[in-house]
Amino acid sequence: MLPVEIAPQVNWVGTLDPQIRVFDVIMAAPRGTTYNSYLIQGEEKTVLVELVKPAFAQDLIHNVSRIVDPADLDYIILNHTEPDHSGCLNGFLEEATGARVVCAKNAKRFVEALLNRDISPMLIEGNEEIDLGGRKLRFISAPFLHWPDTMFTYLEPDGILFPCDFLGAHYCDDRLFNDLVADYSREFAYYFDVIMRPFKSYALQALDKIAGLDIKMICPSHGPILRRDLASYIQRYRDWASLPEQGADKHLIVFYASSYGNTARMAESIALGAQETGMKVSLLDLSAVDPGQAIDQIEAADALAVGSLTINGDAVKPVWDLLSSLATLNLRGKVGAAFGSFAWSGEAPKFIAQRMTDLKMKVVGEPLRANLTPTGDDLAACRDLGRHIAEAVGQNTK
Ligand code: FEO
Repeated sequence: MLPVEIAPQVNWVGTLDPQIRVFDVIMAAPRGTTYNSYLIQGEEKTVLVELVKPAFAQDLIHNVSRIVDPADLDYIILNHTEPDHSGCLNGFLEEATGARVVCAKNAKRFVEALLNRDISPMLIEGNEEIDLGGRKLRFISAPFLHWPDTMFTYLEPDGILFPCDFLGAHYCDDRLFNDLVADYSREFAYYFDVIMRPFKSYALQALDKIAGLDIKMICPSHGPILRRDLASYIQRYRDWASLPEQGADKHLIVFYASSYGNTARMAESIALGAQETGMKVSLLDLSAVDPGQAIDQIEAADALAVGSLTINGDAVKPVWDLLSSLATLNLRGKVGAAFGSFAWSGEAPKFIAQRMTDLKMKVVGEPLRANLTPTGDDLAACRDLGRHIAEAVGQNTK
């Protein structure tokens, strides 16, 4: 696709990737994506904000060349260094021989690792500016959105914000602008859920930083450019990044997978023990519940207990699906417990507890196991575990 002038002397020079269906191995991209790159011409300096995925490097060079000779570029701004934006840097620098790379100070090691050489980039530490002649770039540190090196770039006086992946989406449409493309709310929300959700506190900090800016257009690195209803997009991010209100009572979610009802009985006893303290408890059968639907509940909960039968020396797939989905949440300090019935080996509870520890959860007690049908003692131990979970989260016992 050819360049598109999105504001005077500001051109989109990126590429479309309508065929991609899985992004970065982990993300579905049913509507493709775009790699947005922006060429800004001041009276004295010319700047490229973001590059593109290596496979599309020639398209980028082509697009830039239609407007300026790449050798005349003064700066290349890397708002962060993930290779879908910076992977073609090495080859691009062979064309942009006069350009200096600009990145956050803590991006330097990533740039060096990417290129296996030191290119002495201009390092942004605070709120530095670059005067382009008649307009200027300001840089806004926005770490962990979603890499530690992320920063935003703001063009004055145009009021155009380039926020890297923030406020982006995997959505491909050559009409480019949010007021021209179809409704892509689902892709916008999904992008937040997978990419930004683990960094909610950083998202709120960044939103506070840009709150005072006069923003007329938002140019993310993927998906549509926002020029209509900007406030509603920003508000959605603020709503999603804000933690849900905590109720007076603590909340435990007990997830379980059970073939013959034995692990289910253990789950019920754990739930009972916690409920007896006054704790709120949700009991969820993983054969009937999609953990993705419960993600907000999980995030707001004070404790998780996860139980699995053991098959072939391991926890079963629905349990691993749950545990892997927890990677997008910040569970540090939440209370966890593991349990499960088994026939002849019984490794599942141990693996669940280890995964919880890896997620920085506070695991209470030893993983509880019952051999086939739980005995009265087994169920009493489960009930005790429920009480211990309540104590660990500081539930006021009745
Ligand atoms: Fe689109 Fe984090 O790179």
